[in-house]
Amino acid sequence: MNRRTLLTRIAAAFSVVAAGGLSVPFLKSLMPGFQREILLDVDVSTLAPGEYRRVRWLGRHVFIVRRPPEAVASLTEQDASREDPGSVHSNQPVFARNRTRSRDADHLLVYANCTHLGCEVEVVSDTVFRGFSCPCHRSEFDAAGRVEQGAAAKLNLEVPDYQYISSDVIRLIDA
Ligand code: FES
Repeated sequence: MNRRTLLTRIAAAFSVVAAGGLSVPFLKSLMPGFQREILLDVDVSTLAPGEYRRVRWLGRHVFIVRRPPEAVASLTEQDASREDPGSVHSNQPVFARNRTRSRDADHLLVYANCTHLGCEVEVVSDTVFRGFSCPCHRSEFDAAGRVEQGAAAKLNLEVPDYQYISSDVIRLIDA
């Protein structure tokens, strides 16, 4: 076997191995019952109390806020002025059906879209993080994304599914 033939056979062997490796995920995706899990890990280690990040997730924006203790404490007194204080009628994972609407009171994660007509809400923060306001028809949401009574929006801001990978990393999940 001459050198040229040897190199041709080696290249062909690599092609077969590469094609096989690439085809496994493709073939798995065609299998009944196979569901691709989509994940996004967000490092929250640098967020100081009151600071937030806005990340792109599944074609929408998600706010990740590190709530200061004052903002969490204010939620109880705001129950009476909320449309859905216990978040019974709003959209969130089961773990967020509570006053803080979160796994851990320190962090709030909500989709940025207003539940009225979908405009992106803005963070309301003077000396301390207080919640969100919608620029379109002025619906106001508190520090748990709970909408105020009488607003155009009737549901609280939607909470995405997520989990903590560590104290510094939150994983958004679309299973
Ligand atoms: S879209 Fe937000 S209040 Fe109308």
